[in-house]
Amino acid sequence: MTDPASSIELTDLEPTAADMTALVIEGLSKPQKTLPTAFLYDEAGSELFDAITDLPEYYPTRTELSIMRESLPQMAQAVGPEALVIEYGSGTGLKTRQLLRALQSPVGYVPVEISREFLMTSAAKLQDEFAQLEVLPVCADFTEPFEVPEPSKPARRRALYFPGSTIGNFRPEFATRLLRQMHEEVGKGGCALIGVDLVKDVQVLEAAYNDSAGVTARFNLNMLSRANAELGADFDVEAFRHRAVWVESRGSIEMRLYARRPTAVTLAGKRFTFETGEYIHTEDSHKYSLEGFAELANAGGFDVAQVWTDEAKYFSVHYLQAR
Ligand code: AVI
Repeated sequence: MTDPASSIELTDLEPTAADMTALVIEGLSKPQKTLPTAFLYDEAGSELFDAITDLPEYYPTRTELSIMRESLPQMAQAVGPEALVIEYGSGTGLKTRQLLRALQSPVGYVPVEISREFLMTSAAKLQDEFAQLEVLPVCADFTEPFEVPEPSKPARRRALYFPGSTIGNFRPEFATRLLRQMHEEVGKGGCALIGVDLVKDVQVLEAAYNDSAGVTARFNLNMLSRANAELGADFDVEAFRHRAVWVESRGSIEMRLYARRPTAVTLAGKRFTFETGEYIHTEDSHKYSLEGFAELANAGGFDVAQVWTDEAKYFSVHYLQAR
């Protein structure tokens, strides 16, 4: 049997350690220290995130899946036959499989993911399951423009799939920029299916990001271990603790790493100190109202043609048409 991974053609734009070091130094040099959110997703981080999606407190994945299950035929009809599906993310989940199964004769699937190993493993698995589908992985930071590979059979339409409310991990101004980029990638007449988490009760929101099993804490702290292993930093990981906080004024859950005691880190010859209680801001997870997201989509050049939600209105899936 041939190894499916070896027959897949890869576009590789994975950032180098030097790029990452520069970004980490830039973040730690700010008055409010930050770390690049994309740094959460190495192989270990991606696996921890997968574990998060099964947690009882983490409602988004479950809820989005139930919305998809309920409305897949309508979603497939909206996208139409022989589409090229481009996904921001590596498509490890059930949602991608459900969508690809529901669509009528999709001509290709382009997963775009920054972690090369994770991308190649999941692309190979997917290729195994969908033998007829042309899988064309792109290893890149999807927040930067990239060339969409052409499938051997021409697509009738390009459809951008961006599930999981990952759009919420970007500041609204940046999310608008990302939507404009998606517009470029699908072209006029193309479409997008986007999962968007909705504003709700603070307790529900904060519990989802401070789970009792501590998986989100490990996911967040993994950034520091990763900086030590890959960039030669010397974070004392034990000196930090995870906490996620709802910031009403920004409509966002902020993931933070608080220093438990005075500590310091050295990276590429630069030293950064932390006082007790000082924190590193590692991730934003913005929540939207339906109207708020429609405004964002409009600014990105799309019209909201359909929206599906669950009964409690916890989560939404938007079908957008490129103007
Ligand atoms: C990937 N993204 C949509 C997740 C979220 O809910 O914002 C990342 C995450 N961070 C902590 N838990 C999950």
